Amino acid sequence: MIDSLLFKHFKAIGDIRAVISDSENMEEALQRCVNIIREVSNAETAVIWYYDKSGDKKLHLAYAHGTRTFIENAVEPGVGMVGKVFSEGNSVFLPEGLPEENVRSMICVPLENSYETLGCIQFIDRRDGAPFTQEDADVCEIMAMLAATAIDEKGFDVGTVEQKPVILSLRGVTKEFKNGDTVTRVLKGVDLDVYERELLVILGESGCGKSTMLNIAGGMDNLTDGTFLFRGSDYSHADDKTLTEYRRDHIGFIFQSYNLMPNLTAIQNIRFIAELKKDSDDPERVLEWVGLKERRNNYPSQMSGGQQQRVSIARALVKKPEIVLADEPTAALDYTTGIEVLSIIEDVVASGTTVMMVTHNEEITKMANRVIRMRGGKIDEVIVNRHPVKATDLVW
Ligand SMILES: Nc1ncnc2c1ncn2[C@@H]1O[C@H](COP(=O)(O)OP(=O)(O)OP(=O)(O)O)[C@@H](O)[C@H]1O
Ligand SMILES: [Mg+2]
Repeated sequence: MIDSLLFKHFKAIGDIRAVISDSENMEEALQRCVNIIREVSNAETAVIWYYDKSGDKKLHLAYAHGTRTFIENAVEPGVGMVGKVFSEGNSVFLPEGLPEENVRSMICVPLENSYETLGCIQFIDRRDGAPFTQEDADVCEIMAMLAATAIDEKGFDVGTVEQKPVILSLRGVTKEFKNGDTVTRVLKGVDLDVYERELLVILGESGCGKSTMLNIAGGMDNLTDGTFLFRGSDYSHADDKTLTEYRRDHIGFIFQSYNLMPNLTAIQNIRFIAELKKDSDDPERVLEWVGLKERRNNYPSQMSGGQQQRVSIARALVKKPEIVLADEPTAALDYTTGIEVLSIIEDVVASGTTVMMVTHNEEITKMANRVIRMRGGKIDEVIVNRHPVKATDLVW
């Protein structure tokens, strides 16, 4: 039986070994292997849980691909199905799924080599709607074992993830735009937790709803359905006044096109925003922090794109926001200036602020703590990055 499966999936087995040996780090290796197994087993969603043996001794979501929701972030060994599969080392195969959780069919296999269990992999729902077969379950188990063995041979530095408190939560968020009789549904059920002090990078094709989601998170727009919590307070159906206060008190925005006031100098652009909030930072200090002290009295038209973007970052930061929302902040900049801006964003995160940044540049994902990819108004992929790269080491 096993021999015939190995023979049938000969190519996938070779691919698993090849992608792991080709990968630069654990995240990349796990991600690429799980996507191979996901193709072979025809699974709609795959989720990898990785055990943090040198950290908090929990299983952390490392990578998820598919349209199901991926809210749960950490699991105790021995608790729940994932925790039990990890602790006991035995696969669980539920062809009939978990109807109460809206799971049609599921396989959960340990990610183990000959002497340790690294975590486990869950496969949820077959793409064709049929239940998983015993053969699918056997294939997943064998492939996961091969992956774990190859990972072990490669000797990756596993790294740890720090569990941070949730600052912002979206659940089942939908957004429709009405234009006459036509209704366009842009967000189709977004579930997302955003953590304190994280850099969350958001990718996805043009039109998939990235800016719409950012606008809802920033209180710039109302959602149609679902819930949106900031530090546990519900802003789902807040009125305009409440949303204005929410933006003023908690959020800083950075846009691709800077959006500076053309008739105000650099310092005036920052001061103007600082005056909106009582406990704002000192505009002079923030301007100096972004390295623009000598441009203090320049108007936007007298500054380069990179300098204008730094003013716009200073303007976002002067209110001491808890979350900075950046929509393609480097899209209009050349490489060197883009890296300068990303280095500032890196410092913003290091100083304790959460940053949600939309980009079309895959390279930028390497500096993130977490990456989500959106597709057609939903979150399709979540990648937890245990080894964020410094902005100055990014190359494109
Ligand atoms: N005010 C609006 N009225 C009608 N449709 C809108 C409105 N705002 C956005 N849309 C539509 O919603 C969809 C998603 O838009 P959104 O701006 O969120 O995409 P995006 O992922 O940010 O794309 P891009 O990468 O091009 O910036 C698009 O099809 C867009 O045309
Ligand atoms: Mg956009």
